[in-house]
Amino acid sequence: MSAQIIDGKAIAQQVRVELKARTDALKARGITPGLAVIIVGEDPASKIYVANKIKACAELGLHSEHIVMSADTPEATLLAKIDELNNDPKIHGFLVQLPVPKHIDSNKVLLAIDPDKDVDGFHPVNVGALATGNMRFAPCTPWGCMKLLEKSGVSIEGKHAVVVGRSNIVGKPMALLLLQANATVTICTSKTVDLAKFTRDADILVVATGRAKMITGDMVKPGAAVIDVGMNRDENGKLCGDVDFDAVKEVAGWITPVPGGVGPMTITMLVANTVQSAERTQGSGK
Ligand code: GUN
Repeated sequence: MSAQIIDGKAIAQQVRVELKARTDALKARGITPGLAVIIVGEDPASKIYVANKIKACAELGLHSEHIVMSADTPEATLLAKIDELNNDPKIHGFLVQLPVPKHIDSNKVLLAIDPDKDVDGFHPVNVGALATGNMRFAPCTPWGCMKLLEKSGVSIEGKHAVVVGRSNIVGKPMALLLLQANATVTICTSKTVDLAKFTRDADILVVATGRAKMITGDMVKPGAAVIDVGMNRDENGKLCGDVDFDAVKEVAGWITPVPGGVGPMTITMLVANTVQSAERTQGSGK
């Protein structure tokens, strides 16, 4: 039997309708949620991601600022810009697109961002809050994966969730969110010995390794929910995920496609965090 395809575009659209209503309600009270995105350098993938973040803000009626800095920008100049945004009342959330050029210490950058405006959820205070069950801003990609599971009716409580990948942006926060939702969680990496032994036991399998089609049909439990965070090019230059979609869809119960699965959710959740931050400034947000 073929899996149910989780349509990330359609689910993102549903979430955006709710976000537009919340944005309009804030604007009626004189507050326009504001997001700033800083990009340092010319990384082509980063440029596309940042342009899409700004576009999503415009579509939903948020104020946005796109701050472009050259690749040779001194670290001190970037830190001064961060300080300015920390103190700018028009900006409810902001981020520095990663990676930053090598002469800039990304840990220093993350620490400089006011945790109350850290809509990426990468500041150690927010990472700690997530780890201790007091989440303030969930990192956007894993939170988007949780929304996809929730809106597709996949139950999480008591299930075995296996996360393949342990990055700070996806793998680790994903595992924490699943744990918080009462899953039993295993974290694997692309180096795990006999990875298939673990993935085959997963009721929920989230894959974020950056290795094209590494999860094959025989590595998946029949009926499992498979969330593919990967974004790669295959041997023909076609976009593909970390999961061999054609094979795994014949085994899984649910599966996200690439493109059109996790991708559309990530930016939507960034807008969600920004709207939530604006709501907090006037006491209506959690
Ligand atoms: N680079 C890749 N993904 C992200 C993200 O979600 N946030 C930031 N700031 N940089 C990234």
